[in-house]
Amino acid sequence: MFSKRLNIEFEPNQLSILFNAKIAKGEKIFDLTSSNPTKLNFSYEEKLILKNFIDEQSLVYNPDPKGLITARETVKEYYKSLGKKVNVEDIFITPSTSEAYSFLFKLLLDPDDEVLIPQPCYPLFEYLAMLDSGNVIYYPLLYEHKAGWRPDFKGLQANITGKTKSIILINPNNPTGSYIKSDDYFRFVDICRKNKIALISDEVFSDYDIEKNDDILRTIIGEKSYLNFILNGYSKMLGLPQMKFGWIVIEGEEEIKSEAIKRLEVIADTYLSVSTVIQNASSKLFITKNNIQTQIRGRIKTNYEMLQSKLLLNPDIRLLKCEGGWSAVISFGNLLISEDKFVYGLLEKKNVLIHPGYYYDFIEEGFAVISLLTETHILEEGIDRLLSIYD
Ligand SMILES: Cc1ncc(COP(=O)(O)O)c(C=O)c1O
Repeated sequence: MFSKRLNIEFEPNQLSILFNAKIAKGEKIFDLTSSNPTKLNFSYEEKLILKNFIDEQSLVYNPDPKGLITARETVKEYYKSLGKKVNVEDIFITPSTSEAYSFLFKLLLDPDDEVLIPQPCYPLFEYLAMLDSGNVIYYPLLYEHKAGWRPDFKGLQANITGKTKSIILINPNNPTGSYIKSDDYFRFVDICRKNKIALISDEVFSDYDIEKNDDILRTIIGEKSYLNFILNGYSKMLGLPQMKFGWIVIEGEEEIKSEAIKRLEVIADTYLSVSTVIQNASSKLFITKNNIQTQIRGRIKTNYEMLQSKLLLNPDIRLLKCEGGWSAVISFGNLLISEDKFVYGLLEKKNVLIHPGYYYDFIEEGFAVISLLTETHILEEGIDRLLSIYD
């Protein structure tokens, strides 16, 4: 009866069964995985945020497939603050980045066409592609001690087929926290042009760099391109995932770009899915960016430095290099223990929850992921407990 496109396992896994059982018993859990900023004790400018939703303009419906011009002007202003120029006619407002992907997959993919995504990465893209009848193919990111994570272009080229329609660049990637470097970016563009495929750059974490680094591209806006779609939104930028406000910027060679815009207008016009209320509030919400980003960036930096100092001399549990974003990766390959055993044992014995690397499709065993948004005192206690497990 049901569509085959949702080909997934519905049973809960052992880790979540154990987690729920402990919560039901009233045990205190040190959850080092949450990345929901609205529940992690940040102080939002409540009055400023809420009062903007009372707006009589929101009683009028003026649908535009690209989104209201005032909302697009706000997006333009954001890039202007980064020293980048964007034309409002090249912007589409979407309800979220996830739905921006869905629009792009409808634009680019026929059934069983392929999108290349980095490995490891956040477990969202397989679902997004699957729901639009596409397939995800991975290209590896490789880790080197000093350089951190970088795309393996040999691996990427080997996975390009006649069905490849898009390469996804996640900048910085989640969970590895690695930004794209200029020279690597130019290699992506050359590959896209040569194979006539589109580049999607997901920049939802791009404002959250941990240290200034001139080698990284915080956004690919304004760079040389074949056909680029740049995604971002308020979910991470303002720490407001519930507001449902995202966007796509389109750049590229003139002919292919205008064809893409024409088609995307039909897709967006079919759904007209972004609420007028959030679009009207978007420019005023944007004013809260500095306040929330200062807090989030502060916590990320404090947490990362604390992890660095606690794990510095540990021979078994290493902290991998992270340039930005909301996650940190630890590696425990030396312990020769499976990710399931490590992560399950930690929750069972020490009441600490972390995510095993295989949730994020790490190529090898021996990794776990921790949210850098975790409240610092909880992270500190959680890491002390983690380190005491082999005492
Ligand atoms: C890299 C990346 N892109 C997109 C999203 C989804 O963002 P949105 O809330 O705008 O759909 C996530 C969610 O965490 C993510 O990690």
